[in-house]
Amino acid sequence: MKLLITGGAGFIGSAVVRQAIARGHQVVNLDALTYAACLENVASVADHPGYVFEQADIRDRAALDRIFAAHAPDAVMHLAAESHVDRSIDGPGDFIETNITGTFNMLEAARGFWTRAGRPAGFRFHHISTDEVFGSLPADPLVKFTETTPYDPRSPYSASKAASDHLVRAWAETYGLPVVLTNCSNNYGPFHFPEKLIPVVILNALAGKPLPIYGDGSNIRDWLYVEDHADALLTVIEKGELGRSYNIGGENERSNLELVKTLCAILDEKRPKESGSYADQITFVTDRPGHDARYAIDPSRIREELGWRPSVTVEEGLARTVQWYLDNEAWWRPLQDRAGVGQRLGTKA
Ligand SMILES: NC(=O)c1ccc[n+]([C@@H]2O[C@H](COP(=O)([O-])OP(=O)(O)OC[C@H]3O[C@@H](n4cnc5c(N)ncnc54)[C@H](O)[C@@H]3O)[C@@H](O)[C@H]2O)c1
Repeated sequence: MKLLITGGAGFIGSAVVRQAIARGHQVVNLDALTYAACLENVASVADHPGYVFEQADIRDRAALDRIFAAHAPDAVMHLAAESHVDRSIDGPGDFIETNITGTFNMLEAARGFWTRAGRPAGFRFHHISTDEVFGSLPADPLVKFTETTPYDPRSPYSASKAASDHLVRAWAETYGLPVVLTNCSNNYGPFHFPEKLIPVVILNALAGKPLPIYGDGSNIRDWLYVEDHADALLTVIEKGELGRSYNIGGENERSNLELVKTLCAILDEKRPKESGSYADQITFVTDRPGHDARYAIDPSRIREELGWRPSVTVEEGLARTVQWYLDNEAWWRPLQDRAGVGQRLGTKA
């Protein structure tokens, strides 16, 4: 398939681009190269004959029309988004423009292209979203997000993603656009931008800085290795049923405090300090406003209908991730100079 992948210079998008090429697909990577992007994430495929990069902003409808016409994709995987909850608290405007208006532009450009092409049967628009649209779960481990959980977003980020999900479903119902949707839990792994929790903890630990834990660290997230998410997304684009949505998760619930302690234990083993443990650097800081208590995904549908399963345990994935950051300082060091990285954001509520 020729895949038009938006956000392919970001964390998850780049994993999808690399795996898509490895699976024999052609890729058009459309990315505006915002602060969160890094073309080195796709350097391993940049010279592949099946790969093309298009620098464009999904807020620019004319650019999208040109790219659809020039490349005539078989399918779209739409990942481009503003993705950092803390930034959405301080500056929600970019989230509204990119995540909602940008998705509207993508849908209209896709619909125009698909209509002009005679509505080819195989065409599909895959919208990549988050479990955060479902809101916050109680502690009961039996209660998880399913595909029918009502939407209840609580941050500007999750509200903007929820709005984009609604637009995608509306374009399917109203215009017949062939769509599939996925909602995934928290990802981690190589090339994770150094403003997100796991890279912040690894890099602060190595720098001898405090390891910030929001509130009391009891907030629970369900962690999935990014390469397993990319595999799930390609499985859905290849085999998913049109009009259906799939929840993707690794069934690896950890409180933030447990997660940080695990990362410290891995670092203690791989790069021991002269004395003491990295866990000694843990510092509790003021909580994020509206911090959701718990997310947990029930991935039964994608497992039973499409046969997808994660390939690594969270212990293995975290160990690989720590090792990757230890081996790739040349990647993360320059990114720490980008605006806002290394600062406490999301306090302006
Ligand atoms: N990170 C997670 O844990 C997670 C979990 C579930 C779903 N998601 C979703 O997956 C997608 C990718 O997330 P990520 O963590 O890789 O994000 P990211 O912030 O690492 O990457 C986003 C990419 O989109 C690009 N982009 C941003 N605004 C753009 C615009 N206006 N036009 C074109 N490109 C633009 C950026 O340049 C960047 O390369 C998002 O839609 C996000 O909501 C993320």
